[in-house]
Amino acid sequence: MPLPRLIAHRGLSAHAPENTLAAVRAASDAGCDWVELDVQLLGDGTPVIWHDDNLERCSNSRARLVELERDELAMLDAGSWFGARFAGEPIALLDDALALLAERGMGLNLELKVGSGRDPVALAQAVVPRLKNFLAPHGLLVSSFDRQALESARELDSELPLGLLYTSIPRRWAEDARRLRPLSVHADWRRFDQERLIEIRRADIAVYAYTVNDPEAFKPWWEHGVTGVISDDPTLFRDS
Ligand code: G3P
Ligand code: MG
Repeated sequence: MPLPRLIAHRGLSAHAPENTLAAVRAASDAGCDWVELDVQLLGDGTPVIWHDDNLERCSNSRARLVELERDELAMLDAGSWFGARFAGEPIALLDDALALLAERGMGLNLELKVGSGRDPVALAQAVVPRLKNFLAPHGLLVSSFDRQALESARELDSELPLGLLYTSIPRRWAEDARRLRPLSVHADWRRFDQERLIEIRRADIAVYAYTVNDPEAFKPWWEHGVTGVISDDPTLFRDS
């Protein structure tokens, strides 16, 4: 599977409300081939595309995600906070996001986001079977900060393309890699360590940097072998 150089973080989140179908469409319209989206479960187990534990920052509700059920989603507006033209934008179901990405021929870095007090195993069990039909011919990378979520995902699918997600890459990355057989390691570029990056590339594992919105400041890292960046606006990187 060819891996991308640029991935739109939470969709094209610089120009549309993050993690919505509008942000996926905006990414596609801007020529981005891949998006990163966060997935979590509602209280009834429905997988939805959402970053926070609650709805406060990115919708007209203050509910916690775990308090919501699928038939309550229609009352919510996840677009107005970003701009009036996105009013009424719904919270996206994972299934709807996958269908849109397939229709647009886009790749997906899906982050298994384990909120505080939430069950990583239940998340992997709900999400991984839904990805079966998406992988081919589309690109897919399933990443998580949560080791348990990644371990469950690996148990459920021995071929699933996994990404180890860290803030700064720890010494134990190689041990995690032996156990989980990832395709990539993703880390906060402000915490990058050059030697570790070289080690990972030597192991033939891709490296992704998040969240990079300053192409000039990032420039030197391309020379150290970074595979790609996850950016709120990948169009900023067209000339770099
Ligand atoms: O997957 C990279 C990045 O999305 C991780 O951080 O908080 O934006 O989900 P966050
Ligand atoms: Mg994320």
